[in-house]
Amino acid sequence: MPPRDPHSYSDLGQGSIRHIDFQFLMDFDSRTLSGRGAYELDRPCQGPFDLDIRGLDVIAVRSGQGALDWSLGPDDPILGQRLRIADLAGRQGFDIEFRTRPSASALQWLTPEQTGGRLHPYLFTQCQPIHARTVFPCQDSPSVRFTYSAELTVPSDLTAVMAAAGLGHRQDGHTRRFRFRMPQPIPSYLFALAVGDLTFRELGPRTGVYCEPGLAEKAAWEFAQTEEMLAKAEGLYGPYDWERYDLLVMPPSFPYGGMENPRLTFLTPTILAGNRALVNLIAHELAHSWTGNLVTNATWEDFWLNEGWTTYAERRIIEALEGADGANLRAQTGRNSMFRAMRRFGMDSDPTRLKFSQAGIDPESVVSYVPYEKGYSFLVRLERLAGRPAFDRFVHEYIGDHRFQSITTEDFIEYLRRKLPQAARAIDLQAWLYEPGFPDDAPPFPSRMGDDVSERLFDYQEGRLPRREDVAEWTTAQIYLFLQFLPRQLPVEDCRALDPIFDMPKNRIVVHHSQFYEISIRSGYREILPRVEALLSAVGRVFVVAPVFQALAETSWSRPMVRSLFERHRARHHPITVATVDQILQRAGV
Ligand code: BES
Ligand code: ZN
Repeated sequence: MPPRDPHSYSDLGQGSIRHIDFQFLMDFDSRTLSGRGAYELDRPCQGPFDLDIRGLDVIAVRSGQGALDWSLGPDDPILGQRLRIADLAGRQGFDIEFRTRPSASALQWLTPEQTGGRLHPYLFTQCQPIHARTVFPCQDSPSVRFTYSAELTVPSDLTAVMAAAGLGHRQDGHTRRFRFRMPQPIPSYLFALAVGDLTFRELGPRTGVYCEPGLAEKAAWEFAQTEEMLAKAEGLYGPYDWERYDLLVMPPSFPYGGMENPRLTFLTPTILAGNRALVNLIAHELAHSWTGNLVTNATWEDFWLNEGWTTYAERRIIEALEGADGANLRAQTGRNSMFRAMRRFGMDSDPTRLKFSQAGIDPESVVSYVPYEKGYSFLVRLERLAGRPAFDRFVHEYIGDHRFQSITTEDFIEYLRRKLPQAARAIDLQAWLYEPGFPDDAPPFPSRMGDDVSERLFDYQEGRLPRREDVAEWTTAQIYLFLQFLPRQLPVEDCRALDPIFDMPKNRIVVHHSQFYEISIRSGYREILPRVEALLSAVGRVFVVAPVFQALAETSWSRPMVRSLFERHRARHHPITVATVDQILQRAGV
């Protein structure tokens, strides 16, 4: 029996969804998606059947020609409502007609001005962790997997894509009808679609990129290593089970760096830095094809199984491409981000644990680098205890034995004890997985490039700023590490000096901006404000904008203006970004 998922009303004892046949009609004027789903269950079911919805209008529930009785439970701000079909009476399926609302948190409807090309509107979904229920009724738990087929009707000048196999389209007067089929079973959070003015470029035999036409050249260059990464990942994890691996470059408001939608990773356009320095993000999303999409966390309480394992694979791919020194440098940065997050939550708080009860907690509100980096450190610790050859065999078997399954932390522990008994005994599993803070047997990440950065940081502590030529040869990751390790508050003249040393005004790396702007704001380097506003008006990536808003809200000179600054740009931002920033401002009391 699957574990009880605190973030879903579904009851898997009633049966589970096996396939959905969708029809969707996009209406950009009313910002609604009208949908129909023909649901097929894993077996004939008796009695009630419960689904999740949130802010979704249910129009009718039918079986064949006849209407079925249904009712809605109370509305919870996090979970939404239970949609209960009164009695399936031995049926193995039903049809639901529904309509999304303009406020659906999984959807962002963009005006033409919010896109790169500025001529056509754009729509995309972001369902992880629990937004799928705002698009269609579902058992919105990562422990339920289903296949689907879908027909999307969109305005005739737009192209629709899904995280599924495309079956072509037909022109129908003023509309186009696209058909898709998803033959591999997925959990609801991996349902994804996007509609806009899109073009496609091939990258390799199994890989390609979709983007707005104006970005095609840049994207094809930046992502040229994708096919090679796919091969590296297969070496580590075994055969790629999803046939194609394509990328979709999103509009700038996309709230994440990347999202591992199966067969079609969604990526922030800020990855297009012109130097391929940020492609670790592709390694990360690609690695989710195994860890996350193939072997899935059973509940959001087991999120580290998705992200810790994926961070591990990401760094193994980077190691294969750049060497161990580069991978360890990024691991240092990651650990630093993790400590920041832990200090923000409190070193003893629940979100510093890899697993803790999330009943009553919005899983999105506790997303941080902790599951990524504490999870990563845990796995590297195991790797070093077992030795790499044994650990590599373990990884292969772990993936192979859990393909298309959803597992809990406890399932993982049991498997580890069976397959790597010595390592499992040598490590304090209780401390690593369930206790707050950070264990002191965490592995170090030696890196010569990291040492270069530490030397300059040491110099700075002694009062010597780096010179331009000292850092001219640094990689993007080294500059990032330096900025990250700097104190958050500096003498303002040091900010003024560092600005040209790192060529900040011309630098295109938004994660550098995010760090430098945070420091500048807290240090009272007010000249930065127009650039801060330019970043915050365009970029929606939560990990980039959150620290900057946090700094603005906590610093006395900027505090009075942060609310109005945000309100000027609120309408452009994604519901997830808006919710995060609102929370930051509220907590800071502005
Ligand atoms: N699946 C996540 C994004 C996500 C996390 C969406 C939690 C919703 C809830 C994705 O794979 C991810 O980790 N993205 C990171 C990439 C980075 C750590 C390389 C991001 O967006 O920054
Ligand atoms: Zn991830």
